[in-house]
Amino acid sequence: MYRSHSCGELRESDINKTVTLAGWVQKSRDKGFMVWVDLRDRYGVTQLIFDEERTSTEIIEKAKSLGREFVIQVTGEVIERVSKNDKIPTGGIEVLVSELTILNESKLPPFTIENDTDGGEDIRMKYRYLDIRRNPVKDSLVFRHKVTMEVRKYLSEKSFIEIETPYLIKSTPEGARDFVVPSRMNEGQFYALPQSPQTFKQLLMVGGMDKYFQIVKCFRDEDLRADRQPEFTQIDCEMTFVEQEDILNTFEGLTRHLLKEINGVEVDKFPRMLYDDAMRLYGNDKPDIRFGMQFGEMNEVAKHKDFNVFNQAELVVGIAVPGGNAYTRKQIDNLIKWVKRPQIGALGMVYCRVNEDGSFKSSVDKFYDQDDLTKWAEVTGAKPGDLICVLSGETNKVRAQLSALRMHLAEELGLRKPDEFAPLWVVDFPLLELDEETGHYHAMHHPFTSPKPGQLELLDSKPGEVKANAYDLVLNGNEIGGGSIRIHDKETQQIMLKHLGFSDEEAKAQFGFLMDAFEYGAPPHGGIAFGLDRLVAILAGQETIRDFIAFPKNNSGRDVMIDAPAPLDEEQLKELNIKLDM
Ligand code: AMO
Repeated sequence: MYRSHSCGELRESDINKTVTLAGWVQKSRDKGFMVWVDLRDRYGVTQLIFDEERTSTEIIEKAKSLGREFVIQVTGEVIERVSKNDKIPTGGIEVLVSELTILNESKLPPFTIENDTDGGEDIRMKYRYLDIRRNPVKDSLVFRHKVTMEVRKYLSEKSFIEIETPYLIKSTPEGARDFVVPSRMNEGQFYALPQSPQTFKQLLMVGGMDKYFQIVKCFRDEDLRADRQPEFTQIDCEMTFVEQEDILNTFEGLTRHLLKEINGVEVDKFPRMLYDDAMRLYGNDKPDIRFGMQFGEMNEVAKHKDFNVFNQAELVVGIAVPGGNAYTRKQIDNLIKWVKRPQIGALGMVYCRVNEDGSFKSSVDKFYDQDDLTKWAEVTGAKPGDLICVLSGETNKVRAQLSALRMHLAEELGLRKPDEFAPLWVVDFPLLELDEETGHYHAMHHPFTSPKPGQLELLDSKPGEVKANAYDLVLNGNEIGGGSIRIHDKETQQIMLKHLGFSDEEAKAQFGFLMDAFEYGAPPHGGIAFGLDRLVAILAGQETIRDFIAFPKNNSGRDVMIDAPAPLDEEQLKELNIKLDM
């Protein structure tokens, strides 16, 4: 038996017991005649004491030789601590050691294994197994486990069953590039790793499984951001004989359950917002509604004066920054600089102070009098003491720019409170999205999403206006899930693929299996997938998903610990019949 107790377990009620513990040396203090060692494992830290009067010289000497992160096993008696530490649960006791075994030595770790470590991101990623010993990382992984368990429990109780689907498949387009795997047995042919199990879960519905879920890895070769990893995990779900309302209710239930069990937060019915309204009011399809600052569209109150910047713009739009009149000129200049950065791309920003007495002072006073500015305040909802920030330009671009400014200001003003939860359903997404570069339409969600009833006919005449039976679940300004009611008949699927630019042959080659299945009694079905990494991070009040993944990739998609990706050796390349032309 390596241990009788964990390092987080012993209390004053255990005094006088003889116990055996095993763990890592967090730190030791050597006072000559006495040595204290903090022994750590996943469950906590227990103080060990070795003292000249009560411990043999041999063991004291061994204790003095212990370095940080040595793995040891000790046996001893639980005694009351002289000076108690009420900051840790084991702080009332210590273990007076009578036997000490060094199970393994450790080199000096490249960074301190403390909550606030001196190790930078790169070094911690290279030695991720050491990073995982630190409480913040360990706690995040334990937290993730709790969320996952609650998901499994909730869905299983609602008659969902977890079914695994294959990883070596053919492309399932979700808008990213595929990671591909060469097939040795089928020369010159490749599997694609799933961007999601989308087509398989639909086939499970054709197979009559009715309610499916899977906590599943998905792979997408796309640019990385704080909320994106090339391999990430979905809670993937699908249901048969359902309409959008059924899906929203079921997964609102799951989310509410998680907020209650994990965060102890009770949330009312989730609000719903049309995609078009989200874009108009927040310039974004995943608005953070923990705070206001809705957009005010200002064309009617800002055009037709002599200010040409606005007159030439497709959209003039502003927001009221609460208390923003307190900003100094320098702070406002910094905001202007911020929106002009290439990442945001605005050409400039007009502003208007709303003084406490209700009068206005704008950066364009030459063109707009107090009556004009009163109207600006009306459309943006600005109150005395606020600052109105106005951007103008091409509608989609200016909305994105103002949305970024809104989030930036909210962050600065402390309006994005991590312990407040504001879920939101965004519904009625467009079915298709125009790719500005190629001029082609592609599926906004994925090609298997059904148009709203009666809108299929519009596909030819006004493709950009067709709305889909598609929805996203947004939590605190993050898209944590998305799904749709699916097409379940071959004809509609063919029409859809045709509009996405697939020839009949291409459609058959890539999705023939699905359309064949639709000919054998495919039931109406729909579903959703949550991004588990994102969900977990947000429930923990954070937004960087890397911290909730045991072995994440860095921003270049590399695992710096195992050094992947890596070249293949000649032999392997030959076996796969791959010739590198480099
Ligand atoms: P979608 O592409 O919207 O839908 O993905 C579902 C959710 O997965 C999360 N997500 C990611 N998380 C981390 N890193 C990534 N690279 C990443 N990409 C997506 C997001 C997103 O909301 N098959 C459909 C679902 C369906 O229709 O049922 C799908 O995959 O939180």
